[in-house]
Amino acid sequence: MCGIIGYIGERDAAEVLVDGLKRLEYRGYDSVGIVTEEGRLFIKKGAGKINDLKEKLGLTNLPGRRGIGHTRWATHGIPNDINAHPHTDCTGKIAIVHNGIIENYIELREKLEGSGHEFKSDTDTEVIAHLIEEELKSSKLFEDALRRALLQLKGSFALGIIYTDDKGHLYFVRNESPLVLGIGNGEMFAASDIPAFLPYTNKVVFLDDGEYAVVGKDSFYVKDLKTGNIKDKKIHEINWTLEMAEKQGYAHFMLKEIHEQAKAVKDAIYGNLETIDKVAEEIANYEKVFVVAMGTSYHAGIGAKYFLQRLANKVVLVEEASEFRYEFEDIVDGNSLVIAITQSGETADTLAAIKLAKRKGAKVLSVVNVVGSMATRLSDLVIYTYAGPEIGVAATKTYVTQLTVLAMLAIALAKRLGTVDGKYIKLLEGQLQDLPKYVEAVLGYENKIKALAEELVNKRDFFYIGRGVSVATALEGALKLKEISYIHAEGLSAGELKHGPLALVEEGVPVVAIAPTGKTFDKMVSNIQEVNARKGLVISLGDNEELEKVSQVFLKMPRIDELLSPVVYIVPLQLLAYHLAVLRGNDPDKPRNLAKSVTVE
Ligand code: AGP
Repeated sequence: MCGIIGYIGERDAAEVLVDGLKRLEYRGYDSVGIVTEEGRLFIKKGAGKINDLKEKLGLTNLPGRRGIGHTRWATHGIPNDINAHPHTDCTGKIAIVHNGIIENYIELREKLEGSGHEFKSDTDTEVIAHLIEEELKSSKLFEDALRRALLQLKGSFALGIIYTDDKGHLYFVRNESPLVLGIGNGEMFAASDIPAFLPYTNKVVFLDDGEYAVVGKDSFYVKDLKTGNIKDKKIHEINWTLEMAEKQGYAHFMLKEIHEQAKAVKDAIYGNLETIDKVAEEIANYEKVFVVAMGTSYHAGIGAKYFLQRLANKVVLVEEASEFRYEFEDIVDGNSLVIAITQSGETADTLAAIKLAKRKGAKVLSVVNVVGSMATRLSDLVIYTYAGPEIGVAATKTYVTQLTVLAMLAIALAKRLGTVDGKYIKLLEGQLQDLPKYVEAVLGYENKIKALAEELVNKRDFFYIGRGVSVATALEGALKLKEISYIHAEGLSAGELKHGPLALVEEGVPVVAIAPTGKTFDKMVSNIQEVNARKGLVISLGDNEELEKVSQVFLKMPRIDELLSPVVYIVPLQLLAYHLAVLRGNDPDKPRNLAKSVTVE
């Protein structure tokens, strides 16, 4: 996730900015840049790590006592020197750094290019600098021009802005991306996260969505973006340690990332509005479809199989990438579409599967979170998940965003191929837009789940059962539990239960039943009764209250089409795994024997 730092005061700005950026490194980044002002703007930026660029570019050798800095985590435009922030207008007097996604940037860019603005980068950010430049033509006051430009933006953005001719100020804006001001003595700071300036001040002002701040070295004010009215802001004193501040008060990165999922799903949807249909057009006619992935991404692949089968009438084979590369050499060919799912884009087995597919002439579509990663470079087509960097080893927000974009793809294919009824498409599209709301709602179950975890903490085995698309949730729920709580768990299709695993269900053994309303709901209830007959402990998730009668624990889920339910239903199961791990004294961010990215076979 991009990091922003701003400074105005009496110190050497470049030193403070680079120092602050280093404390934002944990957020993940691929490029770095800073801008300072002394009579004119001075900019240094490039792809790479802060320490290397400090050496290579002399990042700290810039004059001036005000400036802004940025670590970029690529969304629009590959990670390279040109796309690194800051971005400037045509005059080079306005520089911008940005965290978030500007959803209407294509439309704005076309309009600005039409009025003669020349763009240097592929980013969505650069439009903002040109837009302000354009507005300055009809306004003498920078703040007015800025406000008018900002009101034209759609999307999520935290911004830091500097203008050469507006001596003594920096501007910061927040809309759905975090930004906080640091109030010092004769100096001011702003950053995406408090740790960036915590060594200098612990007095902070949290900006809210739709607010902007005008910051001088001795004073600041905050205004409402829409009305232009001054806002009364409280100064908070923070007594967090640096480590606590990095996690924004959450005990672990995993918990923070679980709570970021509503926003991640929203970014995944809006980040792909333009691309999804283009991808659908390119792949619509493939009849041989393989999905390859590992671990959690493989479970997203199981979800994808149901999306593509039910909506686009495709026959889909989902394979672990490690199996695919050895077993499918003679089957994959030029008529095949291979969809590779990998959040990191660097998983060795998945990369090997992609290479095999390419060698055999298949079309490869990757679903990836890390922009510019190896998978994206090897593939013909890429869909990004826009989840932001995931630091916890256990995948959470990258999983729900994978499911989201794959569902979008299946819906786009169904529309193009005319494979399902238009009314059903409309219903799915509406519910897809509401997914962030549903995710937010189930996050509200946290206290209930924590209490449940306390009851279950000493259990030895868990079973997770589901049918149809809910098999993905069963498998992923079990994987989350295994990897961080070290409790044995099995995820399986509920139909399989009585073909063997039921022998292990005895009194008090937890069986988590994922049972949204749908084709197989009645069958799920029968499976639950089989568990009850063996005195197993049934924990059911569903929207039908009938479940309450046949379960010891019932989690009422929002009413949502079965096909989209995995995005929402996994959230309580992530929380359950998290709280069990913590209660058992484990560090959920660093599970034993596991690595975030498995780059060896
Ligand atoms: C799940 O919590 C793990 N982090 C793991 O299963 C992961 O999903 C797998 O290694 C694949 O990683 P990728 O998505 O980066 O390819």
